[in-house]
Amino acid sequence: MSAEKATTTEKIAKGIAHSKLILIGEHAVVHGQPAIALPFPLVGVEATVEHVPGSIQLDSSFYHGPMTSVPSSLKGIANSVEATLDYLKLPAKDLLIQIKSSIPPGKGLGSSASVAIALVKSLFSYVGKQYSKTELLNLANIAETYNHGAPSGIDTLTITSGSPVWFEKEHTACFIKPSDDFHFIVADSGRIGDTRTAVESVANLLKKAPRKIQRKIERIGELTFQAKHALEEAGKSFLGQMLNEAQKELESLGVSDAGLNRLIYFARQEGALGAKLTGAGNGGCIIALAQNEVHSRQLAEKLKQVGAQAVWPFVLSKQDGE
Ligand code: MEV
Repeated sequence: MSAEKATTTEKIAKGIAHSKLILIGEHAVVHGQPAIALPFPLVGVEATVEHVPGSIQLDSSFYHGPMTSVPSSLKGIANSVEATLDYLKLPAKDLLIQIKSSIPPGKGLGSSASVAIALVKSLFSYVGKQYSKTELLNLANIAETYNHGAPSGIDTLTITSGSPVWFEKEHTACFIKPSDDFHFIVADSGRIGDTRTAVESVANLLKKAPRKIQRKIERIGELTFQAKHALEEAGKSFLGQMLNEAQKELESLGVSDAGLNRLIYFARQEGALGAKLTGAGNGGCIIALAQNEVHSRQLAEKLKQVGAQAVWPFVLSKQDGE
């Protein structure tokens, strides 16, 4: 690679993307209910593109080599890159694409969507073209569709947003303005979850017992409406209750596992106003709502002591709404 690097031109284009958290509404959103997601700036992705003669090379912590031979976990990303090159009328050659990510993959933090968004941005920047949000989302969603089968589109949208997002499939998303500061902790159970499998498992339940499962999905939708009201007016205690109620439904849908439940119940026992899984579940992360900033730091420390692999105290501030 160093020999190739010697032949590069000066031009290095960059695209960056932050991560996302689902506050409430995951899984139900795939079936037409609303969800609320938060941009999560504490981890993110940087993609760079530079001119290197030869076939397109991809360089990431998972894989290093020609883009045509990527492992299946990166095939969606390769599809997005190909579609973007085609869209930009760039020949599919002479590029070195590097991906650096601080987002742990398979943890419900939108790692694959962030990589796709950062890559599409870097390719537009490489040709010196502005992108519209629609272009960005359409091209990045190619990777999401390959990776997850039937994504709702909430991950990519939130990753391109600076504000909490109110999302419903096939509706124009809107943004939520929190009326207060909310102190959350995200804690990683340490196990990798698979979004595609989790989404398919809920779809299978829905096929087997449509009335029963539809009721649960609609209940999550109602709780999501209440959570919006909590963010905008009713405040954190009420939000905590809604998160706990949503977790009950997610557990009954079979997407919360023992490792997640352990962290969730521990956080509540230690005074969290609410706690639930975030993202697709069955592995991945939890989100807990702390009472205030001091409590958030204490709770983060305790979650680490009981085995969370990583913890991120995170404030959703009233300045975060558009
Ligand atoms: C994944 O972050 C959220 C899910 O609802 C899937 C999706 O909306 O595409 C589980």
